[in-house]
Formats: sequence, C-alpha cells, structure tokens
Amino acid sequence: MSKRKSELSRRKFLSSSMGVVLGAASLPLLKRGFLFGKPAGRKLKVALVGTGVRGCSTWGRTLIKKYSDVLEMVGLCDINPKRLDYAKQYMGATCPVYIDFVRMIKETKPDTVVVTTTDCFHAKYICLAMKLGCNVITEKPMATDEKMTQDIIDIEKKTGKKLIVTFNYRYSPEAIKIKEILMSREIGEITSVDFNYYLDVYHGASYFRRWHGFKQFSGSLLVHKATHHFDLMNWWLAAEPVEVNAYGELRKYGYNGSIRSVRCMTCPHKETCEFFWDITKNEHYMNLYVKAESEDGYIRDSCVFRKKINIWDTMNVQVQYHNRVTMSYSLNAFMPYEGYFVGFNGTKGRLDARVYHNQPWKIQNMADFRITHSFKKSRTFGIRSGGSEHWGADQVMQDQIFRKPGPDPLGQRAGSRQGALSNLIGIAGRRSIEQERPFKIEELVKI
Ligand SMILES: NC(=O)c1ccc[n+]([C@@H]2O[C@H](COP(=O)([O-])OP(=O)(O)OC[C@H]3O[C@@H](n4cnc5c(N)ncnc54)[C@H](O)[C@@H]3O)[C@@H](O)[C@H]2O)c1
Repeated sequence: MSKRKSELSRRKFLSSSMGVVLGAASLPLLKRGFLFGKPAGRKLKVALVGTGVRGCSTWGRTLIKKYSDVLEMVGLCDINPKRLDYAKQYMGATCPVYIDFVRMIKETKPDTVVVTTTDCFHAKYICLAMKLGCNVITEKPMATDEKMTQDIIDIEKKTGKKLIVTFNYRYSPEAIKIKEILMSREIGEITSVDFNYYLDVYHGASYFRRWHGFKQFSGSLLVHKATHHFDLMNWWLAAEPVEVNAYGELRKYGYNGSIRSVRCMTCPHKETCEFFWDITKNEHYMNLYVKAESEDGYIRDSCVFRKKINIWDTMNVQVQYHNRVTMSYSLNAFMPYEGYFVGFNGTKGRLDARVYHNQPWKIQNMADFRITHSFKKSRTFGIRSGGSEHWGADQVMQDQIFRKPGPDPLGQRAGSRQGALSNLIGIAGRRSIEQERPFKIEELVKI
C-alpha cells in the first residue's frame, strides 16, 4: 500500500473508531474505577456459567479458596446437571446450582457473572448478564463471530455495564518483558513483526479431540487460540488492526488420518495410533466428562481424525495496523514442540524473543531475548517463568481484578474493545480463508 493510501486509511480508521486511545492508557474507566472489586460493606457476589475444566478450576476452586475474603460464589450454572454437581463438589462451593441461567441471576442477584462456557455461547451469556444488571468477566475469546461481537459492544454501551476479557497471556513474564522493551523505544519505532506460534502434538492435538475442532463452536483456532496471540500483538504494539488476509489448511488431523475411530477409550488402534490418549488415567476428567456423557453426549477423548472436523491446523495471517505496522503470523498445531518466536523490526534495531513452553528436550517455560541495535552488537538475556496455572499469570490477573484495581501502568486489563479487536483479527482471518480475499475490520463490526 502506498504511503498516501495508508495515511488515508489510517485517518479514516481513526475517525470511524471515535477517537482511539491506545496502549497503557487504553482503559480509562477500568483504571479509574473499582468495578470488579469488593463493594463497600459486603463481599462481591459472583455467579459462574460453564462448569467445565476452566470454570471449575481457575474461576471456581481458585476463587473460592483464595478470594473468599472479598467475594462470595452465589450460583453455578451449566447445561449438564451431572457435570454441575461434580464441579460444585470439586470447587468446594456451597451455593445453589442451576440449569436455567436467567433463574440463577434472578434468584442469586450477583454483581458479576463469570462466563466459562464453550466459546460460541460466551456472547449469549455476556449480553444476558448485562441486560439483567450484572458486570461480566469472560474467558477468551469474547465472541466467535462478527454479529456476536457487535451485540456485546452495543449492549455494553446501552446498559452501562462493564466487561473484562481475561487475557491471562498479558500477565506472563516474557510478554511483560516484551511490552517493557517496546515501551522503552530502545529499537525505535516498530515497522513490522514476524510472529510464529507452535502448538505441539499433545496440546495442539487436544483441540481436535473436543468441540474446538468445529468452527461453529470455537470459530476455529484463529479465534479460539489465536485471540490470545492477536491480543498480545495489539497490546504490545499499542495499535489497532485495519485489514487481514489469511490462508488456512487442514494437513494432519481430521480427514488426513489413515486410521480413525469415534474415541480413544474404545479405539481398536490404541496400540498403533500416535495420538492415542488415555482419559481413564485422569480421575478428574473421568468425573467431569466421562461420567457426565449421558446428559449431553460430550465425548472429551474424541478421535482427532474424525472426518467432520472443519477447522484448520496450518494457518498464515497478515495484518495491517492503523499505524502502518504490518504483522506476519503463523499458527501450526502439530509441531514436535510448543512455544513461539516473535521478532519486532524497528527503525533502530530488532528485538527477537524465543519462548519455550513444552519441549521434548525438557526446557520449559523460559524465554531467550536478543536486542540488536543497527550497526552495533547484540545484547542477549534469558528469563525463566515459574508458578502454577499458566506461569503464575492467572493469579496475577485475578489479583488485579479482585484486589488491586488501582494503577495499571502496562495497560494489562482488557475490556470489550480489546476483546473485540483481538477476536476480529481471527474472525476476519476466517472469512478471508473462506472467501479468498482480504477483509477490513470495519466491514465486520462498528466499534
Ligand atoms: N485463558 C485460558 O488460558 C483458558 C484456558 C482454558 C480454557 N479457556 C476458556 O474457557 C472456556 C471453557 O473451556 P474449558 O476447557 O473449560 O471447556 P469445557 O468443555 O471443559 O467446558 C465448557 C463447559 O461449558 C458448558 N456449556 C456448553 N454449552 C453451554 C451452554 N449453552 N450453557 C451453559 N453451559 C454450557 C459445558 O457443559 C461445559 O461444562 C473456553 O471459552 C476456553 O476458551 C481459557
């Protein structure tokens, strides 16, 4: 794109987005306010919908164990009564359980609703909760398509209620280090970014065993998974996406398999299939999923080679930002190891970060950094991240939401705008693959 054209689209984008505020200053309401912390004189009343593995651990058991001094779990809701009963016991909750969400809200009157259902139902519950007078904390992705995204933005505006999208990756030590380096402008103004994300044959394969393998439930990995990565990039760059072009292929899972069955537990190829996964060894999963199958038919150890799988495992995306930065991103879901490479090209140099998550050679959760100033030498250093529940990131984020709603110097808290702009890159990417053309964000949603 010529400079003139990009300047024009930049101005058009900025005016159409009603005065974009970026970076650390992007959430004035959350920074000023005390939105999700303890109300004066009593505990915050929290209700949760979606008692699967994430709901009953991070947003169930952890909240009850570690935040009972500031909040009270008043209701739990799920469509599966057996999973709901087990989850209540697992969390150590004493509150009532509901199949009917509206009834739960009317009877328990929560201040805040936590949404941890299957992705495609986030928008429904976010909107219902706000209409019924609650603030909302939702797991990513905020929504799985453009209409749901628009509904949330409109209803938030109409009701005056507030939404937090829990982008816990913003709280990982290496993501924070990258943000600090970019904010210092040590490598000058960023002009372009190379970002490659690798999911391994264990974690990557797990998405093909579950509802995530279907666009209608997850929006594809470009939405379900990459929303984390697009959010990081939007935050790191303090920029907003304008246009997206993408390619996607299914090359390993689904119809590519030469053997298949319905599920691992009853599979005749247990001895030979490299992707065989024995759910019976995990007592928590047996209770949460297998023993609850009779209610909703959700099979947690489905075959990764089911022919109906309709998401991609090999994706490439180009994004143009409002400030002329361009990003090349790839996501591959059957790699021998897990983690990411990101390289920021700046007017004064380059920042390379290599982040190791699961590695066959046992290096876990560490990152190597290299900062190279043009015409000078490189400086290298490493950081190690420890802690449980996503390298300790979940707890730091929850502390910020429930205990320390004060200053937010890195602008880590994310609301509906950040939730929308990250999932819209994935949604535009999906539309781009399906319709074989680039998509502008403003074609999809008016923010
Ligand atoms: N930020 C992170 O690191 C992270 C990690 C894991 C999961 N997640 C997110 O958490 C959410 C839940 O993931 P999970 O792994 O626990 O999935 P899961 O399949 O274990 O749980 C989903 C739950 O939603 C329930 N559900 C489905 N449809 C529903 C409906 N219409 N109404 C009410 N409940 C319904 C299911 O019965 C199930 O209990 C997802 O959105 C996922 O993206 C985020």
